[in-house]
Amino acid sequence: MSKPILLILYGSQTGTAQDTAQRIARQAKRRWLQVQVLPLDNYNVANLISESLVVFVCATTGQGDPPDNMKNFWRFLFKKSLPTGSLSRLDCAILGLGDSSYPKFNFVAKKLHKRLLQLGASILLPVGLADDQHDLGADAVIDPWLTSFWEKLFALYPSVADHFILLPPTYTFHFLDDVKEETADRLRISTDQTVHSQSQPFPARLISNKRVTDLSHFQDVRHIEFDITGSSLEFDAGDVVMMRPCNAPEDIQQFCQLLRLDPEVRFTLKATDNSAGMYACVSRLPQPCTVRHLVERYLDIAAVPRRSFFELLSTFATNELEREKLVEFSSVAGQAELHSYCNLPRRTTLEVLADFPHTTAELKVDYLLDLFPEIQPRSFSIASSLQAHPHRLQILVAVVRYKTKLYKPRRGLCSTWLASLDPAQGDVYVPLWVKKGSLKFPKEKDTPVIMVGPGTGVAPFRSALQERVAEGKTANVLFFGCRSESKDFYFRSEWEEMMNAGHLTLFTAFSRDQEDKVYVQHRVKESSGLLWDLIANKSACFYIAGNAKQMPASVSDALKEVFQQEGGMSAEEAEQMFAVLERTGRLQMETWS
Ligand code: 2AM
Repeated sequence: MSKPILLILYGSQTGTAQDTAQRIARQAKRRWLQVQVLPLDNYNVANLISESLVVFVCATTGQGDPPDNMKNFWRFLFKKSLPTGSLSRLDCAILGLGDSSYPKFNFVAKKLHKRLLQLGASILLPVGLADDQHDLGADAVIDPWLTSFWEKLFALYPSVADHFILLPPTYTFHFLDDVKEETADRLRISTDQTVHSQSQPFPARLISNKRVTDLSHFQDVRHIEFDITGSSLEFDAGDVVMMRPCNAPEDIQQFCQLLRLDPEVRFTLKATDNSAGMYACVSRLPQPCTVRHLVERYLDIAAVPRRSFFELLSTFATNELEREKLVEFSSVAGQAELHSYCNLPRRTTLEVLADFPHTTAELKVDYLLDLFPEIQPRSFSIASSLQAHPHRLQILVAVVRYKTKLYKPRRGLCSTWLASLDPAQGDVYVPLWVKKGSLKFPKEKDTPVIMVGPGTGVAPFRSALQERVAEGKTANVLFFGCRSESKDFYFRSEWEEMMNAGHLTLFTAFSRDQEDKVYVQHRVKESSGLLWDLIANKSACFYIAGNAKQMPASVSDALKEVFQQEGGMSAEEAEQMFAVLERTGRLQMETWS
C-alpha cells in the first residue's frame, strides 16, 4: 500500500489541542508523510466520506462542551440523516484532551469515538484520554498513545518510515533594511455591521482602569471600562469578552537580547510549507512587521513551554551540556524531570531560553513561529449591561500573581498587562470581541434569580442585575463573598443602591473578618427557608460563578442540604432535584481557574 495522506483535525480551546495536532504533524513529516492540519470547523466535513486516514485531536471544555472551533463540525456529525456506514473507508484515531477534575472528563473524545464507530469508521487504537490532572501532565498519556499510533501506522502502511529530520521552517523571514516605521496591527475601526471576531476584533478605547480593592489588600482587582462606540458589539448578561494580551516591554527586550534580534528591524514572511493554515496568526500579522510587534503581540513567551518546544529547541543545540539536557527533556524518559523543571514551578518560556543561552543565541529566526505558540485569547465575564451603560463594556479582573519555588513571583500575562494599561498616558486601544457565555438569565419578568458569586465571580451577576433592574425584574438575590468588608467588598455602593430601591436582597460572607471562616455556602444554608420558597414555589433560577476550586462543589452541597432540610427530602432525592434543575437550565454554573 502506498503512503496515505494524513489529515489531522483538531478542536482546541486554549491551544493545547492545536499544539498537539501540530506536534503530530511534525512527527508525520519526519516520516515523510504528506500531512494537513486543520481546525475542525475549517474542514469541509462532507469530504470525510472520501478520507482514508484521519487523526482527531479534541479538547473537552470545562462544562463538557466541544471547543468553539469544532462546534459546526459537531452539529453536522450528529445529524440524524447521516447514513450508518458512510465512513466505512476511513481509518482514524482519536486523541482527547481533558481535565479529570471536571465531571465530564474527555466527554467530546468519547462521544466522537462512539459516533465514528456508528458511521462505520475503523478506529486504529483505543481513544487517548489525556488528563491535565496527571502528575506528569497530558503528555503522560499522549506520548505512549502516539508511539502506539505510529506502530499501527507502520503495520498498516509499511512504506512509512521512522526517519528523524529537522524540517524546514513553516515560514521564512525576509528582513528589510528600509526606513523603520511604526507597525500598526491590521485593525480596522468599522462602523458597518461587521461581526467582530478573533480575525476582526474591535479596537475598544480604554476609558478607566481602577483598582477596587484596598491598597493594603493582598490582591489587586481591577474594574476596567472600554468604549465600544462605533462597533456592532452586542451582549447580554452572562456573555464574555475575548482579548489577546501583549508581552511586557522588559520581556520583549530580554527576548530580543537573548536571540540577538534587533526589535526595530522589519521583515516580511513567506510561507515555505504547504500545510496552509498552520499558523493562523500570519493572516493578522502586518506585513512588513517589526520584530518588536511580532514578539509583543504574537509569540507566547510567558507561558510554560510544552514538550514540543524542547524537541525543536534541542535540534539547534551545539553546546554539549545544553544539548544533553534538551534531548532529555524531549524524551519519554525525561518527562518527570521536565515536569519538575517547568510545570511545577511554572517556569516561563523566556526563563527557559535564559537557562539555555547558547542554544537560544543559535536559534534560526525562521523557526520563530514553529517554536513559539501564538498568544491565546483570554475570556472575561462581562460585568456591565448595555442597558445601564450604553456603548460601554466593563470587566472585573483579579491580577494574577503568586509564588512558586522560583525567586520571581509568577504573573498572569493578561491580567498583568491589563493592569498596566493607563488611559491617562494617551489613547489606549484593546482589540476585543464578544462571545455568548454559558449563563442564561430568565426572560420571564417574575422568575426570581439567586446568584452566588464570591470574588470576581460576581462579574456576570453585576451585568445580570443591571440588565434585570433596567427591565423591571426585581426578584434578585445575591450571595457575595470576600475576605474583608473593608478591603475587597467591591461594588458595595451599587448593591446598597439596589437594595434601597427594593431590587436586591444581598447576603455577604466576609471570610476573614472573624476567627472562623465564613463562606457563601454558609450563608446559603442559613437562608434555607427563603431559598426553598423561591426555588420550590416561585420557579427561581440558581447560579454559581467564580473560581473552580472547592467553592462550586461546596455551594452545590449547601443547596442540596437546603432541599433536604426544607423539602424533607432524602439525600438521594435532593441529588435528583439538583440534577433536574441542572438539566432544565434552572441551575447554571460558570467557573474558571
Ligand atoms: P478565603 O480567601 O478567606 O479562604 C473570594 O475569593 C472569597 O472566596 C474569599 O473570601 C475566599 O476566602 C472565599 N473562598 C475561598 N475558598 C472558598 C471555598 N472553598 N468556598 C467558598 N468560598 C471560598
